[in-house]
Amino acid sequence: MPQIQIRTENAAGEVAVLAGVYLDGQRTTGEPLNELAGLAEAAGVSVLAKIVQRRRKPEGATYIGSGKLEELKELVDANEANLVIFDNDLAPGQTKNLETALNTKVIDRTELILDIFASRARTAEARLAVELAQLEYSLPRLKRMWTHLERQGVGGVGLRGPGEKQLEVDRRLAQKRILDLKAELENVYQRRQREVKSRKTSRTVSLVGYTNAGKSTLLNKLTDSDVFVKDQLFATLDTRTRRWNLPGWGPVLISDTVGFIRDLPHHLVAGFRATLEEVNQADLLLHVADASSGEVNEQIAAVYDVLTELGINEKDTVLVLNKVDALADDEPALSLLLQKYPSAVAVSAKTGSGLAALTAAVSEALSKEFCDITVTMPIGNGRLAALLAREGEVLSTQYAETSATVHCRLPKHVLGVLKREADVQITGLPAEQTPVW
Ligand code: GTP
Repeated sequence: MPQIQIRTENAAGEVAVLAGVYLDGQRTTGEPLNELAGLAEAAGVSVLAKIVQRRRKPEGATYIGSGKLEELKELVDANEANLVIFDNDLAPGQTKNLETALNTKVIDRTELILDIFASRARTAEARLAVELAQLEYSLPRLKRMWTHLERQGVGGVGLRGPGEKQLEVDRRLAQKRILDLKAELENVYQRRQREVKSRKTSRTVSLVGYTNAGKSTLLNKLTDSDVFVKDQLFATLDTRTRRWNLPGWGPVLISDTVGFIRDLPHHLVAGFRATLEEVNQADLLLHVADASSGEVNEQIAAVYDVLTELGINEKDTVLVLNKVDALADDEPALSLLLQKYPSAVAVSAKTGSGLAALTAAVSEALSKEFCDITVTMPIGNGRLAALLAREGEVLSTQYAETSATVHCRLPKHVLGVLKREADVQITGLPAEQTPVW
């Protein structure tokens, strides 16, 4: 099968100038271009210079205004940079115009993130998701790639016909591959949904958070396991689920998943739907934030934005302010954060401080959706006995001649089913009880 030529930038080893245009009223995370510099570093790019412009609206042809474009060109030439990375999403035409004006390669934030994801994807599922996102990103840019090839002498006068024909072929191949990838990912998604549902008897907790907030470190600490931890953005692209013996509660499943970031490319979020299914079906989210980051508030807001985009922003959530050890010399900063987020739990996944308070908060949050009841039912109702064992936790069973009395801890949503059963008595329903665990 002929290869589709897609523009997959491998930015590693390049030297770059960063450029950002911030529109009036646009929210930025802390120091402009800091985050982009972190992303560039994660992609193995050396950053030589930065340039920022504030504008009311983007310049149609080049996004950045003409005066700043001149300055940018001077920076590129002076630093002998071979790459310019924009902190904005550029339209294909804008990239082309910028490349012509600057005489160097130009990529945008989305392309950079796709590049990092492509180099980090390890599992088949993550690779599929990234390939789909890259192709969808590249499709409107195929023409530009072709004109580049022509400029390099591959096409040219007399070859325009074949060039256009090739473009059509490329486009059709890309569209077909996109359809195939979507079908494959849909299969993975369906399978993942079934898998996650089949574990429904266990309570599940999902860690979410900005990339590099310390999710994997916390997972390791809580479960005594050995998950890959690295001080780099997007070290985790897959879901890892571990059993967590939650003190005072019992075993629950806890999973760690892909880190979030401000304005995560939409194609990527869609591609990672299967990976994020754990989050979607979790009973509780632990939102891990890096309290030592100067941009913690913006990062917390960005995570909520991504959760909203995924339609899972209304899940019960415990906010975990991690890395408080790094704030040891800055008590006022931590106090301010706790004032702003009074229900948050301050921890250090590194030293273990605050973890007892965290487990208590998780137990309490999980208890909210459970009730402790006693069910008396005919001894022959095996179907109901099986339901109680499957959906809840049976604490004791006592048998009389014709009946069985089961003391159990049950998710509240199962109560409706119980209430419809004949010859069944329930005592200790939520309105009457105070949870004891
Ligand atoms: P992604 O996989 O990129 O989403 O990152 P993550 O949120 O899983 O973060 P990870 O656990 O990989 O940690 C990122 C960096 O923060 C590592 O260098 C950790 O050693 C460090 N780190 C994690 N927790 C703490 C903490 O409590 N204190 C300090 N000082 N550093 C921490």
